[in-house]
Amino acid sequence: MGRTLFTRTLVLTVAALLSPGAIAQSGCPAGSLNSTVGSWTPSANDTIFSIAAAVGRGVCDIARANRMADAELLRPGFSLIIPAQTCYPDQDSCLLVAQNATMDCIYGGPHVYTAVEGDTLSTIALKKLNITVASLLSTGLPPHGGSSSNGSADAPLAPGTGVKVPQCSPSRCVVEPYRFTYGTYKDLAASFGTTVGQIFAFNPTYGQSDADEADSPVITVPLNCLPLASNVTAIS
Ligand SMILES: *[C@@H]1O[C@H](CO)[C@@H](O)[C@H](O)[C@H]1NC(C)=O
Ligand SMILES: *[C@@H]1O[C@H](CO)[C@@H](O)[C@H](O)[C@H]1NC(C)=O
Ligand SMILES: *[C@@H]1O[C@H](CO)[C@@H](O)[C@H](O)[C@H]1NC(C)=O
Ligand SMILES: *[C@@H]1O[C@H](CO)[C@@H](O)[C@H](O)[C@H]1NC(C)=O
Ligand SMILES: *[C@@H]1O[C@H](CO)[C@@H](O)[C@H](O)[C@H]1NC(C)=O
Repeated sequence: MGRTLFTRTLVLTVAALLSPGAIAQSGCPAGSLNSTVGSWTPSANDTIFSIAAAVGRGVCDIARANRMADAELLRPGFSLIIPAQTCYPDQDSCLLVAQNATMDCIYGGPHVYTAVEGDTLSTIALKKLNITVASLLSTGLPPHGGSSSNGSADAPLAPGTGVKVPQCSPSRCVVEPYRFTYGTYKDLAASFGTTVGQIFAFNPTYGQSDADEADSPVITVPLNCLPLASNVTAIS
């Protein structure tokens, strides 16, 4: 009994001497965390990673508090909410990763995806729409397929470029307005049965909420995107 008490006391004493990160892992006393919600106006060279490191918050905790479409896509001129520090900062669960795509078309719509900063046909296909690169190359750019401007799926696309998306026929999505209170498109895609790319395509001007806006934004989301037959064909 006496030994147990001694051990607990010792652990607390040691924890108090460690860095905030180490305290978080050994029980995270609330007093050790910065609970102040702040804001940050990104400068030209800021990335979500440099900002998260500068303020000691998780990349994805910041992205979700700001309802960012994609954590890595900062919207010029918008300031970020810096949320309270948490015991377990989330640095990566919101990041888009290339999928082992096998589908050659998307369920439902829409027909056109509008490129944002940093997009290539490869990243749109694998990180956003979860379809093969070859299928997007076959329809993607005007005049409907062939190759991108310099003949490569990895060439950067000018923001605003319309990319034609192959659709599975027959298939459908239900499309509804949605008040976006917390999360990223990756979270919404997982809970609504759609892809990040389709949410982007339905909301070509949305990037993140603004720290100064009182109300959470309303976006358009495709829900329950499904094939309507056991065999579907890709159409462009
Ligand atoms: C706590 O976080 C806020 C918001 O990011 C920041 O402005 C403030 O400097 C932080 N305080 C400390 C002691 O780090
Ligand atoms: C951004 O980076 C460029 C190139 O490294 C540098 O010339 C410029 O001064 C930086 N701007 C700011 C605001 O830090
Ligand atoms: C893709 O497949 C490889 C090999 O099986 C696997 O290691 C990797 O985790 C997969 N990627 C994704 C995003 O599922
Ligand atoms: C992407 O598609 C693959 C193959 O159809 C599937 O296994 C995977 O779960 C999908 N990933 C996402 C994030 O929807
Ligand atoms: C699906 O298969 C059926 C019979 O196998 C065929 O009659 C039908 O045309 C096919 N539909 C599509 C969209 O390929």
